[in-house]
Amino acid sequence: MVAGHDTLGGWGDARKVAYFLENSEIIIPRREEQLKLLVELIPYSPNASLSVLDLGAGFGSLTERILKHFPSATVTCVDGSEPMIAHATERLLKYGSRARIRKADLSDSSWIGALQDRARPIDVESTPNGPFNVAVSAIAIHHLTDRRKQELYREIFDLLARGGIFLNNDVVSTPPALKEQFERLNLLAIQEQERSKRGMSRSRQEIEAEIREQRRLAGGEHESRIASLTDQLHWLSQAGFRSVDCYWRYLDLAIFGGIKEQ
Ligand SMILES: C[S@@+](CC[C@H](N)C(=O)[O-])C[C@H]1O[C@@H](n2cnc3c(N)ncnc32)[C@H](O)[C@@H]1O
Repeated sequence: MVAGHDTLGGWGDARKVAYFLENSEIIIPRREEQLKLLVELIPYSPNASLSVLDLGAGFGSLTERILKHFPSATVTCVDGSEPMIAHATERLLKYGSRARIRKADLSDSSWIGALQDRARPIDVESTPNGPFNVAVSAIAIHHLTDRRKQELYREIFDLLARGGIFLNNDVVSTPPALKEQFERLNLLAIQEQERSKRGMSRSRQEIEAEIREQRRLAGGEHESRIASLTDQLHWLSQAGFRSVDCYWRYLDLAIFGGIKEQ
């Protein structure tokens, strides 16, 4: 929280977190496909001893997939929400020291301090070869202002080792002329996921009312911080990433990123 402003987009609220935990696979169209693909895009062999950073890791669903797919990997989870951290801690307990959970607010660069480990101190300024092979994020960075997104992309670049990759699965802005189509297709996807996973499906009006309530809990600035994919690809290139591209997109959801070249 900065001067009365909720930098977490409502995620400090235990009810909002409980709702997301229960419903993320329903309310995010093609959620399973995205998390699966993101892990498969990581360009390392499954037995590699990777050091991975998960930003806005939430309750650890992406982290857990990475820990399972790469049994020798260590994942550092960063999130600013107390209830999310509590869920992640419980969920990732069985991975012991392979899961490191850090509470920090990504809305300014002081979050990097939370990565400091007395055994392995990080000096980002003095080394072009950062401590992480992979940085990932899912449905989190859109909560930051555009200026902060750009700074964060530079910070991630510095924290990556040469050859490392950043993969961001996030909400991107909708082309204004297609707003209605995107909304209609998003609702259809949610209805379809409800049908297939829960054997039931609510009306369009019921789902819309629920989405409105969740947006209310998230605070009014939620939507205005969603940036276009084009801008974000540009910011990644400006930060130094190469092979910058969108690797997957469906409506307003995308997986994009880049490589820190050798
Ligand atoms: C929609 S949840 C996604 C969680 C997880 N990545 C997933 O896909 O299941 C968004 C997450 O971003 C975190 N978040 C939002 N703003 C943040 C900030 N300024 N600093 C740290 N975490 C933040 C929230 O606490 C929340 O856990």
